Amino acid sequence: MGKSVIELTGISKTYGKGDGAVRALTDVSMNVSEGDFVAILGASGSGKSTLMNIIGLMDAADSGEYFLDGVDIMKSRDSALTRMRGEKIGFIFQRYNLIPKYSVLYNTALPLLLSGMGFARAKKKASDTLERVGLSDKLRKKPAELSGGQAQRAAIARALVTDCPLLLADEPTGALDKKTGEDVLGFMRELNETAGKTILMITHDMHVSGFARTVVRIEDGRRVEA
Ligand SMILES: Nc1ncnc2c1ncn2[C@@H]1O[C@H](COP(=O)(O)OP(=O)(O)O)[C@@H](O)[C@H]1O
Ligand SMILES: [Mg+2]
Repeated sequence: MGKSVIELTGISKTYGKGDGAVRALTDVSMNVSEGDFVAILGASGSGKSTLMNIIGLMDAADSGEYFLDGVDIMKSRDSALTRMRGEKIGFIFQRYNLIPKYSVLYNTALPLLLSGMGFARAKKKASDTLERVGLSDKLRKKPAELSGGQAQRAAIARALVTDCPLLLADEPTGALDKKTGEDVLGFMRELNETAGKTILMITHDMHVSGFARTVVRIEDGRRVEA
């Protein structure tokens, strides 16, 4: 494994102010090396999604340091963060977040189309990526016509299509039965091992975190020994 892609030092985050304030993260530090497959393991409400939102440049920490690929995130402008998010990070969610009215092919091509790629090229790239995840025969289907495992593979294809080096997955198997979840996790491990993708996955489930190489545990917003 190579250099640090993610370097978090002393990250804290509180939602709201005064009496209603909720402290979600306290002094969290962690590094993710290039090529690693890291699970963030913690109970519901421990601060996992808050941490993922900060790492995914969708929310800002109140204090601490965050370097993504050597860039000082706390000092970056919103426009730079938006660009980095598009270029570097692919997101995978528990509920897939596919757009119901679009075909699997169009859902997968969308990040490319949004970044300005022409339709023919985007379609070709999306169908190549869908082949990689084993969905070549589902290009014309709508998300509702897929099984849960197929929908999550489509979502993984959408995350992969931009060739971003980092995948962030928030409870990627949370909506799947055990066997289908294991298939998806096995596929993620293969992406890590053979395609060299750096993966950061959130889970509350120790069985799921067992698929990762490195486990980071959080409890009540603090990092604890794994
Ligand atoms: N937008 C928000 N406003 C207020 N409190 C929040 C918000 N998001 C999360 N929280 C609180 O922050 C804590 C951590 O939540 P979260 O990061 O979602 O944990 P997890 O993903 O581990 O379940 C919880 O106490 C939660 O209720
Ligand atoms: Mg969560």
